[in-house]
Amino acid sequence: MQMKVFEPLQIKTMKIPNRLGLSSLLNNPVGEDGGPDATTIEWFEARARGGVGLVLCGAVQPIAPPPGMTMWRRISLALYDDQYIPGFQKIADAVHKHGSVFGVQIAGGGPMTGSGPSLPPYPDQLHATMTVTDALGAPSFPIREYSVADIEFSENAFAATALRAKKAGADCVEIHCTHGGASFLCSFLSPYYNKRTDKYGGSWENRLRASVETIAKVRQAVGKDFPVLIRFCGDQLIGEKGITVADTMKYIVPAFDEAGVDAFDVSQGDNIRSVEGISIPMYIPRGAFIYVAEAAKKVTKKPVFGVGRIVEIEMAERFLQEGKADLIFMSRQFTSDPETFKKFLAGKNDEIRKCVGCLMGCGRPCPLNYDIQDAPVKMTPAKKSKKVLVVGGGVGGMEAARIATLRGHKVSLWEKEPELGGMVSALAKTKLTSEFQNFLDYLGIQMRKLKVDVRVCKEATIPEVEVLKPDVIINATGSSMVIPEIAKGVPGVMDHIEACKNQRAIGQRVVIWGLVAAELAISLAEAGKDVIMIGRGGEETLARDYPGSRRWYVLRKLLDINTVRELTPQKKVSNPQVRFFTDVESITPGVLHLVDGQGAKSDVPFDTFIISRERACNNGVYEMLKGKAPEVFNIGDSNKVGDIKEAVWAANEVARKI
Ligand SMILES: Cc1cc2nc3c(=O)[nH]c(=O)nc-3n(C[C@H](O)[C@H](O)[C@H](O)COP(=O)(O)O)c2cc1C
Repeated sequence: MQMKVFEPLQIKTMKIPNRLGLSSLLNNPVGEDGGPDATTIEWFEARARGGVGLVLCGAVQPIAPPPGMTMWRRISLALYDDQYIPGFQKIADAVHKHGSVFGVQIAGGGPMTGSGPSLPPYPDQLHATMTVTDALGAPSFPIREYSVADIEFSENAFAATALRAKKAGADCVEIHCTHGGASFLCSFLSPYYNKRTDKYGGSWENRLRASVETIAKVRQAVGKDFPVLIRFCGDQLIGEKGITVADTMKYIVPAFDEAGVDAFDVSQGDNIRSVEGISIPMYIPRGAFIYVAEAAKKVTKKPVFGVGRIVEIEMAERFLQEGKADLIFMSRQFTSDPETFKKFLAGKNDEIRKCVGCLMGCGRPCPLNYDIQDAPVKMTPAKKSKKVLVVGGGVGGMEAARIATLRGHKVSLWEKEPELGGMVSALAKTKLTSEFQNFLDYLGIQMRKLKVDVRVCKEATIPEVEVLKPDVIINATGSSMVIPEIAKGVPGVMDHIEACKNQRAIGQRVVIWGLVAAELAISLAEAGKDVIMIGRGGEETLARDYPGSRRWYVLRKLLDINTVRELTPQKKVSNPQVRFFTDVESITPGVLHLVDGQGAKSDVPFDTFIISRERACNNGVYEMLKGKAPEVFNIGDSNKVGDIKEAVWAANEVARKI
């Protein structure tokens, strides 16, 4: 049977060559003048080259940002003036070269950027009970209420921008009416933000008015045959206070259908209140949000697009076959591997580098994809094939081995443990972060397919290295957790990595020292252990370096902060328990003697005491091997303790130059 993903989709004048799309992602490069530059064009061309049918650009600005809003200048392309048309024309040409179609999403306004349909406080007293969440993106500036003149001005700006997109050769435009407080139109739609009493507030008809008027004006600007799409919020993920799936079916889709849109791109979430529907963390099952597209499909005959952590073409195909959507966006997936579709077509499914949903950049600093950034070191065949020894088989070491082999070097990789993966394999064994296994699978398969000479349980010693006589040594021996003096040799003490790798040895009563280990703590609690986290810092240090919505999820679970939505059970849990400003005074067998910031002491019995604090570079091997080959490099954690991205990128920077 012919797969559905291969079928073209005709929407008025636009023929999408297949059923896969790149939805708008505000991660495309922006030129100095706010419009596209050569890097932007190459960025979009790379997506089209990979075979995705519909390429949408990140939300463009229809209105010049007010002075001071420099953030938008950096991440959102400007199309509020005709001067930007030639740049967009170049993107359209570049995308068309590969047979894909190009669309421009138009967005603007909303409480997140300082203007809303009505003023806070919103139903759950947005700021009243918040503490750390303010740091997570809630608007901190006064919100201005749209006047009727402002509404008209915005609607006209959408229409003028749509016409510019059409003139630039775009195949469609998409009106952004989603993500709650992130959007002018969605915030008008949402009963959560819209408390107006004029013709733009109150009833559904009134709240829909700004969107319906915008659709009409855009239609008038671009003509009847030009495809006009709308991305709307099918579920604001804040329960009855916001837009619900029932509203989608009863009010939103019928109104937009009648207003004359040509296709529905259904997403979910609210950038201020439920960001996990937009920047979807790895904790949320793949494809979990397809229900919103499915709901829309029940009430319209027009094409419906589905989105949300879909990383496998097989899943896209299944949703298409089941009639849940007519096109599937796999957006971050085309960031972590722009060649996804091509590899699938070539029967190289196992070589696809699947997005892990880590949110550690989502775009140009994608930790898995070094090439996504603006100025990567180019991949060129090596001038001379060298004998390369990579010491350490974590992700940095494997990536270095992969790149060096692809360039024509002869690579051996030695790992002292029985398995590859290093610290990332520990993360992959933690329930909440198990998606990291995707990356390990990818690199492991690459090692096999590229025939890298991989040796596990093999330590690098000087005699062995002297026998091999490498021209280049790349040391990637990672880092180790530092065990504080007070815990050294104590029965039941494990470091974080050891604990992940040897979970069967973890007892029932677990204390974790270090507030960064929130994902491990939650995973162990969900596995039935009684977990207490302790740390010397306050709330701001809990999961401190976690990216965006991963932190949001964890904080909501562990702290008593104001929240309105239970997507997965996210009411504060009592297990794990978190104790701030807490230090270990002494340890006796099976008991921790703790002291808090006020000097209050407590004894906490434990079976397992997990240490997750500082890490130290394992640079001993590098020091030993320095001078043992003409070129010796030290990359990743063994050079400087950092994150996955730093290890993978350092591997590329070295392996592309040797
Ligand atoms: C960094 C980032 C930027 C985004 N920018 C936009 C945007 O400009 N407009 C929009 O409608 N959605 C935006 N989204 C949402 C994505 O289009 C998409 O719905 C989301 O990433 C989920 O799909 P995925 O799991 O396939 O990536 C953004 C998401 C991320 C992570």
